[in-house]
Amino acid sequence: MHIGILTGGGDCPGLNAVIRAATLSLLGAGMQVSGIERGFLGLMRNRLRPLDAAAVEGILDAGGTILGTHNKADPFHDFGRGGADISAEVLACARGHGLDGVLAIGGDGTMAIAAGLQKLGLPVIGVPKTIDNDLPLTERTFGFDSAVAVVSEALGRLRTTARSHGRVMIVETMGRYAGWIALEGGLAGGAEVILVPELPFDMEVVAAFCRGRELAADEGAGHTLICIAEGAAPRGGGMTVARVEHDSPDPLRLGGVGEVLRAQLQPRLASEVRCTLLGHVQRGGAPTAYDRVLATRFGHAAAQLALQRQFGVMVALQADAVVAVPLDAVAGGNRRIEAGHPLLQVARGLGICMG
Ligand code: F6P
Repeated sequence: MHIGILTGGGDCPGLNAVIRAATLSLLGAGMQVSGIERGFLGLMRNRLRPLDAAAVEGILDAGGTILGTHNKADPFHDFGRGGADISAEVLACARGHGLDGVLAIGGDGTMAIAAGLQKLGLPVIGVPKTIDNDLPLTERTFGFDSAVAVVSEALGRLRTTARSHGRVMIVETMGRYAGWIALEGGLAGGAEVILVPELPFDMEVVAAFCRGRELAADEGAGHTLICIAEGAAPRGGGMTVARVEHDSPDPLRLGGVGEVLRAQLQPRLASEVRCTLLGHVQRGGAPTAYDRVLATRFGHAAAQLALQRQFGVMVALQADAVVAVPLDAVAGGNRRIEAGHPLLQVARGLGICMG
Protein backbone atom coordinates (compact mmCIF):
# COMPACT_ATOMS: atom_id res chain seq x y z
CA MET A 1 0.00 0.00 0.00
CA HIS A 2 1.22 3.50 -0.86
CA ILE A 3 -0.14 6.53 1.03
CA GLY A 4 0.41 10.20 0.23
CA ILE A 5 0.36 12.91 2.90
CA LEU A 6 -0.41 16.59 2.31
CA THR A 7 -0.89 19.70 4.44
CA GLY A 8 -3.37 22.26 3.03
CA GLY A 9 -4.66 25.73 3.93
CA GLY A 10 -3.05 28.00 6.51
CA ASP A 11 -0.33 26.37 8.57
CA CYS A 12 -0.41 25.86 12.33
CA PRO A 13 1.73 24.30 15.05
CA GLY A 14 1.47 20.49 15.08
CA LEU A 15 1.40 19.76 11.33
CA ASN A 16 4.83 18.15 11.47
CA ALA A 17 3.81 16.07 14.47
CA VAL A 18 0.94 14.59 12.40
CA ILE A 19 3.22 13.96 9.41
CA ARG A 20 5.72 12.21 11.69
CA ALA A 21 3.14 10.07 13.51
CA ALA A 22 1.35 9.00 10.32
CA THR A 23 4.61 8.27 8.48
CA LEU A 24 6.13 6.22 11.30
CA SER A 25 2.87 4.28 11.83
CA LEU A 26 2.54 3.49 8.10
CA LEU A 27 6.21 2.60 7.67
CA GLY A 28 5.98 0.36 10.76
CA ALA A 29 3.18 -1.55 9.03
CA GLY A 30 5.33 -2.01 5.93
CA MET A 31 3.62 0.68 3.82
CA GLN A 32 5.19 3.12 1.39
CA VAL A 33 4.72 6.84 2.17
CA SER A 34 5.07 9.93 -0.01
CA GLY A 35 4.91 13.60 0.90
CA ILE A 36 2.77 15.73 -1.42
CA GLU A 37 4.29 19.21 -1.58
CA ARG A 38 2.33 22.43 -0.86
CA GLY A 39 -1.10 20.92 -0.28
CA PHE A 40 -3.20 19.97 -3.28
CA LEU A 41 -0.80 21.93 -5.47
CA GLY A 42 1.54 18.92 -5.26
CA LEU A 43 -1.08 16.76 -6.99
CA MET A 44 -1.88 19.54 -9.47
CA ARG A 45 1.78 20.08 -10.41
CA ASN A 46 3.07 16.54 -9.81
CA ARG A 47 5.36 17.33 -6.89
CA LEU A 48 5.72 14.35 -4.56
CA ARG A 49 8.70 12.99 -2.65
CA PRO A 50 9.30 9.82 -0.63
CA LEU A 51 9.00 10.03 3.16
CA ASP A 52 11.10 7.69 5.27
CA ALA A 53 12.01 7.63 8.96
CA ALA A 54 14.97 9.98 8.37
CA ALA A 55 12.71 12.54 6.69
CA VAL A 56 10.53 12.85 9.81
CA GLU A 57 13.35 12.64 12.35
CA GLY A 58 13.40 15.59 14.77
CA ILE A 59 10.28 17.35 13.43
CA LEU A 60 7.85 16.60 16.29
CA ASP A 61 8.24 20.02 17.88
CA ALA A 62 8.98 22.04 14.74
CA GLY A 63 6.43 24.67 13.74
CA GLY A 64 5.15 24.98 10.15
CA THR A 65 5.14 22.01 7.80
CA ILE A 66 8.07 20.24 6.14
CA LEU A 67 5.80 19.59 3.13
CA GLY A 68 4.83 23.23 2.64
CA THR A 69 1.23 24.32 2.23
CA HIS A 70 -0.98 26.44 0.01
CA ASN A 71 -4.26 28.17 0.83
CA LYS A 72 -5.34 28.80 -2.75
CA ALA A 73 -4.57 25.49 -4.49
CA ASP A 74 -7.91 23.94 -5.41
CA PRO A 75 -8.11 21.19 -8.11
CA PHE A 76 -11.70 22.21 -8.82
CA HIS A 77 -10.68 25.86 -9.49
CA ASP A 78 -7.05 26.02 -10.60
CA PHE A 79 -6.01 29.63 -9.97
CA GLY A 80 -3.09 29.16 -12.38
CA ARG A 81 -5.40 28.12 -15.26
CA GLY A 82 -8.24 30.61 -15.06
CA GLY A 83 -10.23 28.65 -12.49
CA ALA A 84 -10.38 25.45 -14.58
CA ASP A 85 -11.50 22.17 -13.01
CA ILE A 86 -8.42 19.94 -13.22
CA SER A 87 -9.62 17.31 -10.75
CA ALA A 88 -9.29 14.60 -13.44
CA GLU A 89 -5.57 15.46 -13.77
CA VAL A 90 -5.18 15.28 -10.01
CA LEU A 91 -6.71 11.81 -9.96
CA ALA A 92 -4.44 10.78 -12.82
CA CYS A 93 -1.40 12.13 -10.94
CA ALA A 94 -2.34 10.13 -7.82
CA ARG A 95 -2.89 7.00 -9.91
CA GLY A 96 0.41 7.56 -11.73
CA HIS A 97 2.25 7.51 -8.43
CA GLY A 98 0.35 4.39 -7.39
CA LEU A 99 -1.26 6.11 -4.41
CA ASP A 100 -3.86 3.96 -2.64
CA GLY A 101 -4.97 6.89 -0.55
CA VAL A 102 -4.18 10.39 0.68
CA LEU A 103 -4.07 11.78 4.20
CA ALA A 104 -5.21 15.40 3.85
CA ILE A 105 -4.29 17.48 6.90
CA GLY A 106 -6.19 20.76 6.86
CA GLY A 107 -9.14 22.94 7.78
CA ASP A 108 -12.58 23.54 6.27
CA GLY A 109 -11.31 24.33 2.76
CA THR A 110 -9.06 21.27 2.66
CA MET A 111 -11.87 19.01 3.92
CA ALA A 112 -14.26 20.36 1.23
CA ILE A 113 -11.72 19.58 -1.52
CA ALA A 114 -10.95 16.20 0.06
CA ALA A 115 -14.64 15.30 0.10
CA GLY A 116 -14.94 16.30 -3.58
CA LEU A 117 -11.96 14.18 -4.61
CA GLN A 118 -13.20 11.25 -2.54
CA LYS A 119 -16.49 11.38 -4.49
CA LEU A 120 -14.51 11.20 -7.75
CA GLY A 121 -12.68 8.09 -6.57
CA LEU A 122 -9.54 9.29 -4.76
CA PRO A 123 -9.57 7.63 -1.32
CA VAL A 124 -8.96 10.35 1.30
CA ILE A 125 -8.74 10.54 5.08
CA GLY A 126 -8.93 14.00 6.66
CA VAL A 127 -7.02 15.22 9.71
CA PRO A 128 -8.48 18.37 11.32
CA LYS A 129 -6.08 21.29 11.71
CA THR A 130 -6.71 24.94 12.41
CA ILE A 131 -5.85 27.35 15.16
CA ASP A 132 -9.49 28.50 14.94
CA ASN A 133 -10.83 25.20 16.40
CA ASP A 134 -13.93 25.61 14.25
CA LEU A 135 -14.28 22.32 12.35
CA PRO A 136 -17.57 20.47 12.89
CA LEU A 137 -17.75 17.13 14.73
CA THR A 138 -14.43 17.47 16.54
CA GLU A 139 -14.07 19.03 19.97
CA ARG A 140 -10.51 20.06 19.23
CA THR A 141 -8.33 20.71 16.22
CA PHE A 142 -4.59 20.62 16.78
CA GLY A 143 -2.90 24.03 16.64
CA PHE A 144 -5.65 25.64 18.71
CA ASP A 145 -3.99 25.02 22.06
CA SER A 146 -0.74 26.57 20.79
CA ALA A 147 -2.59 29.69 19.58
CA VAL A 148 -4.39 29.99 22.92
CA ALA A 149 -1.00 29.81 24.66
CA VAL A 150 0.26 32.74 22.53
CA VAL A 151 -2.82 34.84 23.37
CA SER A 152 -2.57 33.96 27.03
CA GLU A 153 1.10 34.94 27.17
CA ALA A 154 0.45 38.18 25.29
CA LEU A 155 -2.31 39.12 27.75
CA GLY A 156 -0.02 38.35 30.68
CA ARG A 157 2.65 40.65 29.26
CA LEU A 158 0.15 43.39 28.43
CA ARG A 159 -1.32 43.17 31.94
CA THR A 160 1.90 44.42 33.56
CA THR A 161 2.23 47.42 31.27
CA ALA A 162 -1.53 48.14 31.41
CA ARG A 163 -1.34 48.19 35.21
CA SER A 164 1.73 50.45 35.24
CA HIS A 165 0.04 53.07 33.09
CA GLY A 166 -3.57 52.56 34.09
CA ARG A 167 -4.41 51.84 30.47
CA VAL A 168 -6.98 49.91 28.49
CA MET A 169 -5.18 47.33 26.37
CA ILE A 170 -6.92 45.64 23.44
CA VAL A 171 -5.61 42.37 22.00
CA GLU A 172 -6.98 41.28 18.62
CA THR A 173 -6.82 37.54 17.96
CA MET A 174 -7.53 35.44 14.88
CA GLY A 175 -10.90 33.72 14.52
CA ARG A 176 -13.02 34.70 11.55
CA TYR A 177 -16.42 33.20 12.21
CA ALA A 178 -15.78 31.45 15.52
CA GLY A 179 -14.38 33.08 18.65
CA TRP A 180 -12.76 30.07 20.32
CA ILE A 181 -9.25 31.58 20.38
CA ALA A 182 -10.47 34.85 21.90
CA LEU A 183 -12.69 33.05 24.42
CA GLU A 184 -10.16 30.49 25.68
CA GLY A 185 -7.17 32.82 25.23
CA GLY A 186 -9.05 35.58 27.04
CA LEU A 187 -9.98 33.27 29.91
CA ALA A 188 -6.45 31.89 30.16
CA GLY A 189 -4.95 35.39 30.11
CA GLY A 190 -7.45 36.95 32.52
CA ALA A 191 -9.08 39.44 30.12
CA GLU A 192 -11.87 41.52 31.66
CA VAL A 193 -13.63 41.93 28.30
CA ILE A 194 -13.96 39.16 25.68
CA LEU A 195 -15.61 39.91 22.33
CA VAL A 196 -16.38 37.09 19.88
CA PRO A 197 -18.08 36.92 16.45
CA GLU A 198 -20.97 34.90 17.85
CA LEU A 199 -22.04 37.72 20.19
CA PRO A 200 -22.27 41.12 18.46
CA PHE A 201 -21.09 43.76 20.93
CA ASP A 202 -22.36 47.17 21.98
CA MET A 203 -19.48 49.61 22.14
CA GLU A 204 -21.28 51.73 24.76
CA VAL A 205 -21.54 48.67 27.02
CA VAL A 206 -17.78 48.06 26.68
CA ALA A 207 -17.04 51.76 27.32
CA ALA A 208 -19.28 51.83 30.41
CA PHE A 209 -17.56 48.69 31.73
CA CYS A 210 -14.08 50.24 31.29
CA ARG A 211 -15.27 53.52 32.88
CA GLY A 212 -16.55 51.56 35.86
CA ARG A 213 -13.07 50.05 36.33
CA GLU A 214 -11.45 53.50 36.01
CA LEU A 215 -13.71 54.91 38.72
CA ALA A 216 -13.23 51.95 41.04
CA ALA A 217 -9.44 52.46 41.10
CA ASP A 218 -7.32 55.08 42.87
CA GLU A 219 -7.30 58.34 40.92
CA GLY A 220 -9.09 56.71 38.00
CA ALA A 221 -6.06 54.55 37.17
CA GLY A 222 -7.94 51.28 36.65
CA HIS A 223 -6.70 49.15 33.79
CA THR A 224 -8.70 46.81 31.55
CA LEU A 225 -7.64 44.01 29.19
CA ILE A 226 -9.90 43.45 26.18
CA CYS A 227 -9.53 40.32 24.05
CA ILE A 228 -11.36 40.65 20.73
CA ALA A 229 -11.57 38.16 17.85
CA GLU A 230 -10.89 39.53 14.36
CA GLY A 231 -14.40 38.46 13.32
CA ALA A 232 -16.19 40.23 16.18
CA ALA A 233 -18.56 42.97 15.04
CA PRO A 234 -20.65 45.66 16.69
CA ARG A 235 -24.38 45.07 16.92
CA GLY A 236 -25.92 46.04 13.60
CA GLY A 237 -22.48 46.40 11.95
CA GLY A 238 -20.36 44.15 9.75
CA MET A 239 -16.99 42.48 10.21
CA THR A 240 -13.83 44.55 9.66
CA VAL A 241 -12.41 43.40 6.34
CA ALA A 242 -8.72 44.15 5.82
CA ARG A 243 -8.71 43.15 2.13
CA VAL A 244 -10.32 40.86 -0.42
CA GLU A 245 -8.19 38.22 -2.14
CA HIS A 246 -10.18 37.25 -5.21
CA ASP A 247 -8.05 34.21 -6.10
CA SER A 248 -8.69 32.61 -2.70
CA PRO A 249 -11.50 30.10 -1.98
CA ASP A 250 -12.36 32.27 1.06
CA PRO A 251 -11.55 35.75 -0.27
CA LEU A 252 -12.13 37.81 2.90
CA ARG A 253 -9.10 38.65 5.05
CA LEU A 254 -10.13 40.19 8.34
CA GLY A 255 -8.15 42.40 10.69
CA GLY A 256 -8.39 45.80 12.31
CA VAL A 257 -11.51 45.56 14.48
CA GLY A 258 -9.31 46.07 17.57
CA GLU A 259 -8.04 49.36 16.20
CA VAL A 260 -11.59 50.44 15.27
CA LEU A 261 -12.68 49.69 18.83
CA ARG A 262 -9.66 51.58 20.21
CA ALA A 263 -10.55 54.69 18.21
CA GLN A 264 -14.17 54.55 19.40
CA LEU A 265 -13.33 53.89 23.06
CA GLN A 266 -10.62 56.54 23.43
CA PRO A 267 -12.87 59.63 23.43
CA ARG A 268 -15.19 57.94 25.92
CA LEU A 269 -12.52 57.11 28.50
CA ALA A 270 -10.10 58.99 30.73
CA SER A 271 -7.38 56.33 30.39
CA GLU A 272 -5.27 55.85 27.30
CA VAL A 273 -6.28 52.97 25.03
CA ARG A 274 -3.78 50.88 23.05
CA CYS A 275 -4.27 47.98 20.63
CA THR A 276 -2.04 45.01 19.78
CA LEU A 277 -2.83 42.84 16.75
CA LEU A 278 -1.34 39.38 17.27
CA GLY A 279 -1.89 38.18 13.69
CA HIS A 280 0.22 35.33 12.37
CA VAL A 281 2.31 35.15 15.54
CA GLN A 282 -0.55 32.88 16.69
CA ARG A 283 0.16 30.42 13.88
CA GLY A 284 3.93 30.25 14.18
CA GLY A 285 6.42 28.48 16.41
CA ALA A 286 6.50 25.18 18.25
CA PRO A 287 3.31 23.33 19.22
CA THR A 288 2.42 23.02 22.90
CA ALA A 289 2.79 19.59 24.52
CA TYR A 290 -1.00 19.16 24.29
CA ASP A 291 -0.96 19.83 20.54
CA ARG A 292 2.00 17.48 20.02
CA VAL A 293 0.08 14.67 21.72
CA LEU A 294 -3.20 15.43 19.92
CA ALA A 295 -1.44 15.69 16.54
CA THR A 296 0.38 12.41 17.23
CA ARG A 297 -2.89 10.69 18.16
CA PHE A 298 -4.57 12.02 15.00
CA GLY A 299 -1.65 10.99 12.77
CA HIS A 300 -1.56 7.49 14.22
CA ALA A 301 -5.35 7.11 13.95
CA ALA A 302 -5.35 8.29 10.32
CA ALA A 303 -2.67 5.70 9.50
CA GLN A 304 -4.73 2.95 11.16
CA LEU A 305 -7.79 3.94 9.11
CA ALA A 306 -5.69 3.84 5.91
CA LEU A 307 -4.42 0.36 6.81
CA GLN A 308 -8.04 -0.74 7.27
CA ARG A 309 -8.90 0.97 3.94
CA GLN A 310 -11.49 3.09 5.70
CA PHE A 311 -11.52 6.22 3.54
CA GLY A 312 -13.95 9.12 3.13
CA VAL A 313 -13.65 9.99 6.82
CA MET A 314 -11.93 12.55 9.04
CA VAL A 315 -10.35 11.69 12.37
CA ALA A 316 -11.96 13.67 15.19
CA LEU A 317 -11.83 14.08 18.94
CA GLN A 318 -15.07 13.26 20.75
CA ALA A 319 -15.25 12.81 24.53
CA ASP A 320 -11.43 12.61 24.44
CA ALA A 321 -11.51 9.57 22.14
CA VAL A 322 -10.24 9.68 18.56
CA VAL A 323 -13.06 8.61 16.25
CA ALA A 324 -13.79 8.71 12.50
CA VAL A 325 -16.56 10.96 11.15
CA PRO A 326 -17.80 11.19 7.53
CA LEU A 327 -15.86 13.74 5.45
CA ASP A 328 -19.14 14.80 3.86
CA ALA A 329 -20.53 15.87 7.20
CA VAL A 330 -17.51 18.12 7.84
CA ALA A 331 -16.94 19.64 4.39
CA GLY A 332 -17.74 23.33 4.22
CA GLY A 333 -19.07 23.38 7.80
CA ASN A 334 -18.17 25.58 10.70
CA ARG A 335 -18.35 25.01 14.47
CA ARG A 336 -19.16 28.20 16.34
CA ILE A 337 -19.57 28.91 20.05
CA GLU A 338 -23.18 28.02 20.76
CA ALA A 339 -25.32 30.18 23.06
CA GLY A 340 -25.20 28.69 26.54
CA HIS A 341 -21.77 27.08 26.02
CA PRO A 342 -20.29 26.28 29.47
CA LEU A 343 -17.31 28.61 28.88
CA LEU A 344 -19.66 31.53 28.19
CA GLN A 345 -21.40 30.78 31.48
CA VAL A 346 -18.02 30.71 33.25
CA ALA A 347 -17.02 34.04 31.69
CA ARG A 348 -20.27 35.71 32.63
CA GLY A 349 -20.14 34.18 36.10
CA LEU A 350 -16.75 35.82 36.64
CA GLY A 351 -18.15 39.21 35.66
CA ILE A 352 -16.33 39.28 32.31
CA CYS A 353 -17.95 41.74 29.91
CA MET A 354 -19.00 40.03 26.67
CA GLY A 355 -20.15 43.28 25.06
O1 F6P B 1 -8.08 29.84 9.35
C1 F6P B 1 -7.02 30.23 10.12
C2 F6P B 1 -6.75 31.68 9.99
O2 F6P B 1 -5.67 31.81 10.83
C3 F6P B 1 -7.86 32.68 10.35
O3 F6P B 1 -8.13 32.82 11.70
C4 F6P B 1 -7.34 33.93 9.70
O4 F6P B 1 -8.38 34.83 9.45
C5 F6P B 1 -6.74 33.41 8.45
O5 F6P B 1 -6.33 32.09 8.71
C6 F6P B 1 -5.59 34.21 7.92
O6 F6P B 1 -5.23 33.71 6.68
P1 F6P B 1 -3.96 34.17 5.84
O7 F6P B 1 -2.81 33.33 6.31
O8 F6P B 1 -4.32 33.91 4.44
O9 F6P B 1 -3.72 35.61 6.15
